[in-house]
Amino acid sequence: MMDPKLTRRAFSAALLAAPAVLSGKQSSLETRVRIDTNRINGQIDPKIYGNFTEMLGRCIYGGIYDPGSPLSDSRGFRKDVLKAVEELHVPLLRWPGGNFSSNYHWRDGIGPRDQRPARLELAWGTLESNEFGTDDFLTYCEQIKTEPYLCANLGTGTWDEAQQWVEYCNFPGKTAVTELRRKNGREQPWGVKYWGLGNEMDGPWQMGHRSAEDYGKFALEAAKMMKWTDPTIKLVAAGSSNFGPNADWVGWNRTVLQYLKDHADYLSLHTYVGNSQNNFAEFMASTLEVTDRIKVAEGIIQAATANSKRKIYIAYDEWNVWYRARGEGKEKGREILEEHYNLEDALVIAMFLNTFINNAQIVKIANFAQLVNVIAPIFTSKNGLFLQTIYYPLQLFASNSFGNSLELSVEAPTYSTQKHPAVPYLDISAAFNQGTLVLNVVNRHATEALPATFELEDKQFAGAFEAAEVNGPDSKAENNFDSSPVKTVTKSTDASGTRLRYTFPPHSFTMLKGKLG
Ligand code: AHR
Repeated sequence: MMDPKLTRRAFSAALLAAPAVLSGKQSSLETRVRIDTNRINGQIDPKIYGNFTEMLGRCIYGGIYDPGSPLSDSRGFRKDVLKAVEELHVPLLRWPGGNFSSNYHWRDGIGPRDQRPARLELAWGTLESNEFGTDDFLTYCEQIKTEPYLCANLGTGTWDEAQQWVEYCNFPGKTAVTELRRKNGREQPWGVKYWGLGNEMDGPWQMGHRSAEDYGKFALEAAKMMKWTDPTIKLVAAGSSNFGPNADWVGWNRTVLQYLKDHADYLSLHTYVGNSQNNFAEFMASTLEVTDRIKVAEGIIQAATANSKRKIYIAYDEWNVWYRARGEGKEKGREILEEHYNLEDALVIAMFLNTFINNAQIVKIANFAQLVNVIAPIFTSKNGLFLQTIYYPLQLFASNSFGNSLELSVEAPTYSTQKHPAVPYLDISAAFNQGTLVLNVVNRHATEALPATFELEDKQFAGAFEAAEVNGPDSKAENNFDSSPVKTVTKSTDASGTRLRYTFPPHSFTMLKGKLG
């Protein structure tokens, strides 16, 4: 829920001061939103607030796991990181990669630590000590009360290896493999429900990269054996992540689903966006492409499952802003992919989440990439941590936006960019859960505060309303170990009747939340 330490001040002035839309003097930048709580896109799956930890850089080592540090507990888990992770309310955690998973052999990471083999790690060009492995990760998930999601190695790995990982984690009976689990201290099966059939297998950068046909055939045999071992598991097929000039995004997804339509439960999509041209207006529009991709993938899924009762959903299992620390140039050693985020990045994160909510009928899993240090909301040093700007929208959504995603009727002023003819200034999603309405609004305008009127068609506002705003002095403002100019500030007031008018400050994300009667 909302951080109790956040400052609270009345916001009735902001809510009511601007001239009412009823006066007829509507600003040209006024947005009108009509809401009927019976108009529903779909049920929001809380797993869209999932996250991802890869054996990469300082995500695990020096991030969540730092044995010997005075800040760590007896298991080596950093206690300050644990607290920040718990307050993020992560319902699903993906591991061990990413690209790493394509050269990961899970048996290397079990048993006594001092007997685990060190391996050359080819995805990120480092050494993997295997000090942190399956049982460590699953213990961490239990600690933070999150569902684990393991990505099997369908790059350099074998069918047997993928099947036996399911057996090690989930099979209750006595076999040579489950005896290993018991020997490692775990009698009861871990019950891992979510399993990835490889990662980004259409990318030439991936170890074991294959054509769509070859991946489809290979993944099908792995899927059969994994589900025969535990029929309750859910499988995520590797969708296309390759946007190179010769890539065939649609063709890959279509072919892979032809092979996997009877076994996969999700199709995975990945998107990273950035602002390398330093064009705020264009950057603020970047999630429109995410909507397009979801719509196309939804069509491909519908076509693949047209004659079947099976449902396949989208798992957006990697997404973020990532364009500065790409692992090239000056970065070295363990400290790779350590992106420093600013306010405009936090706004894009909020718009990704708006997009997932607005497509709640098909996007049922999403994993923010990643959790700690590596392109992450939590950033550590040996002495402590700070919360990056992007932490705050992630936390607000994962703590508040549940229930039904509402299909809104929005009349909004727009702007145009080179790529997009009509970008609404306000990007909005709405969640309605047991009488509580949550409106998530990003103001894409760099300099103007913009008003909006929300009109309820079937209900009334019923009293207390809160506004949680993520903003900062300017769009480039960053947090660091010494100061946090970008954070959530919460205000409260009353709202009644059928209309709520609110003015959204420039470059801001605001969550409005209140009861309806
Ligand atoms: O999240 C970083 C990397 O981005 C992942 O390892 C890979 O799957 C993607 O390309």
